[in-house]
Amino acid sequence: MVLIRRANEQDIEDIIQVKQAVWPDEAADAALMRQVIWDAAHLTQVAIVDDGVVGFVDGFNTLSLKGVPQWNLDLIAVHPAFQGRGIASDLMRANTGAGRDTGAGQARGLVAVDNVASQRTFMRCGYVCDEVVCGLYVGGDFSGELGSLSNTELARNIIPVTTLNYRGLWVENAWTNPIFAMALGMAQAQSGQIIGAVIPLGERGAVDVAQVYHLELVGHYQWWMLDFTESAIV
Ligand SMILES: CC(C)(COP(=O)(O)OP(=O)(O)OC[C@H]1O[C@@H](n2cnc3c(N)ncnc32)[C@H](O)[C@@H]1OP(=O)(O)O)[C@@H](O)C(=O)NCCC(=O)NCCS
Repeated sequence: MVLIRRANEQDIEDIIQVKQAVWPDEAADAALMRQVIWDAAHLTQVAIVDDGVVGFVDGFNTLSLKGVPQWNLDLIAVHPAFQGRGIASDLMRANTGAGRDTGAGQARGLVAVDNVASQRTFMRCGYVCDEVVCGLYVGGDFSGELGSLSNTELARNIIPVTTLNYRGLWVENAWTNPIFAMALGMAQAQSGQIIGAVIPLGERGAVDVAQVYHLELVGHYQWWMLDFTESAIV
């Protein structure tokens, strides 16, 4: 019997244990997790089996370019000893449903092209894969002049996020010189933030600009989407 419930501060050590079992090479930041779990804009949930945490998921809204909230199913993991029992599907359904109940227009998740287990979980819950393959570019460095912090038009493409893994700025929708310059300026003003950009591989100009700013390709990903106005969570 699996229980899905909202995570609390007492779950953090257990979440870290699941995270380390799933991603042994990645560090875990308990203080950051505490901040996310307490953040009313996030919903972090845990899966409990026999009183122990065996999986977790986190989701939160960002604004689309049209100003509509979209739910980001950002991170989901199940301890290897408990995988294949439908637990991720239960977590994903619960988290996506909560996202829909916030009034979001759609939910989305970014999945590596070779992550079959994650793809099947999104598919099972009613998400649809966007065929466009994207490069995930992360990092950023530039020795020239960086952008001003006050350009509200450009800022619409730069989304500050705090996740269970990092504080960062997502560069979305447009990937131009001034936008990356502004994002890097913002990241430098607030140390510890990383920049991420999910760029369709066909957008050669955008990829070139990301590379000018020394963002590095970490892998190939696709968006998985669930439009709440058209589709149901299954
Ligand atoms: C992705 C993950 C969360 C799935 O957890 P899970 O509890 O095993 O998933 P479920 O049991 O709910 O299975 C969901 C679907 O995935 C399939 N699946 C699960 N593990 C699989 C595997 N190793 N290979 C292929 N398919 C797999 C299931 O068969 C099911 O699909 P189906 O309904 O078509 O049969 C888990 O594998 C995991 O933690 N992976 C590492 C972390 C990760 O990649 N997270 C996602 C990126 S943020």
